[in-house]
Amino acid sequence: MSGGSSGSVAGPWWVVVTGASQGFGAAICMGLAPLLPRGSKLLGVARSQEGLTNTAAAVNKINPNATFISIMMDLETATTLDLEAALKRHLGAGQPTPPGQALVFHNAGSLGALKYLREMDDSAHASSYFNLNISSVIRLNAAFLRVTSALPAKVAVKIIHIISLAALEPFKSWGLYCTAKAGREMLFRVLAAENPALRVLSYSPGALDNDMQVKARTETQDKDIRDIMSSLKAEGKLLPCITSANKLLHILDKDQFKSGEHIDYSDA
Ligand SMILES: NC(=O)c1ccc[n+]([C@@H]2O[C@H](COP(=O)([O-])OP(=O)(O)OC[C@H]3O[C@@H](n4cnc5c(N)ncnc54)[C@H](OP(=O)(O)O)[C@@H]3O)[C@@H](O)[C@H]2O)c1
Repeated sequence: MSGGSSGSVAGPWWVVVTGASQGFGAAICMGLAPLLPRGSKLLGVARSQEGLTNTAAAVNKINPNATFISIMMDLETATTLDLEAALKRHLGAGQPTPPGQALVFHNAGSLGALKYLREMDDSAHASSYFNLNISSVIRLNAAFLRVTSALPAKVAVKIIHIISLAALEPFKSWGLYCTAKAGREMLFRVLAAENPALRVLSYSPGALDNDMQVKARTETQDKDIRDIMSSLKAEGKLLPCITSANKLLHILDKDQFKSGEHIDYSDA
C-alpha cells in the first residue's frame, strides 16, 4: 500500500492485527512490514508469546523503522475496556504525530468443534466459540473506533475482516464456523452502513497451507468435507499465507472496493 492511491495522508501508520502469532495473521504482518512508513506501530494480538516474538523478529528484520508491539491477550475473555486500554497505551493521546492511516485486521479465529449439529450438545463450547469468533470482534471494533474517533477527518480508517467461503456455503459438520463467519459478514456490512467515513472490507483468503487446514483435514467429522480438504493438500491447491496476504494488501492499496464488500482471493 503506497498510501498515494488509497487516499491516505503521509505519516506513520497505526495497525492492529489479531492472531498475529502464526498463520495468516503473521503473514499479514510480514506483508505489511516493507510498506510501513518510519515511526509506524504494528500491534500484534494473540495468546502465544513465542509466536508474537517470532513475528516481531521477522517484522523488525524487514523494517527496523517500524515498531512491532506484542499484545498477549485472550480475545475470548478480553473486555472492550481491556482492548481500549491496550490500544490507548500505544496509540492514544500524547502520540507525537497523528497517523497517515489507521487499520485493524480482524484475523484471529478458530474452527471449533467440527461435528454434526445433531451431536453438538456442549453449549459451553458453543458459547465460548461465539464469544471469540463473534463477540470479540464487536468489542475490538468498539475499542478501535473510540481510539480513532479523535483523529483528524482526513486520516483513513480501514477495518479489514478475514472471512471464508464458509460464510456463504454450508460445510457439513462445520456448523459453528460457518455460522460465525456468516454472522460476521453481516456485522461488517452493518458497520460499513453505520459509518460511511470508514473503509470496511471482508476478505476471504482462500484455502491456506497452514495449521488450520491440518485440523480441517484431520478432525472434520463429515467424510465428504474431510476428503475435499485432504485433496486440496494432496493436489497442491493450498496457498502460501504470504501469497494471499500480499493480494489483500494490493486490494487495500487499490482501494476500489465498496465499503462492506466481501472479496475472495480468487476474485481479485
Ligand atoms: N486456513 C485457511 O485455509 C483459512 C481459510 C479461510 C479463512 N481463514 C481465516 O483466516 C484467519 C486466520 O486463520 P489461520 O488460518 O491463520 O489459522 P491459525 O494458524 O490457526 O491461526 C489462528 C490465529 O488466531 C489466534 N487466536 C486463536 N484463538 C485466540 C484467542 N482466544 N485469543 C487471541 N488470539 C487467538 C491464534 O493465536 P494464539 O493461538 O497465539 O492465541 C493464531 O494467531 C481465521 O479467521 C480463519 O477463519 C483461514
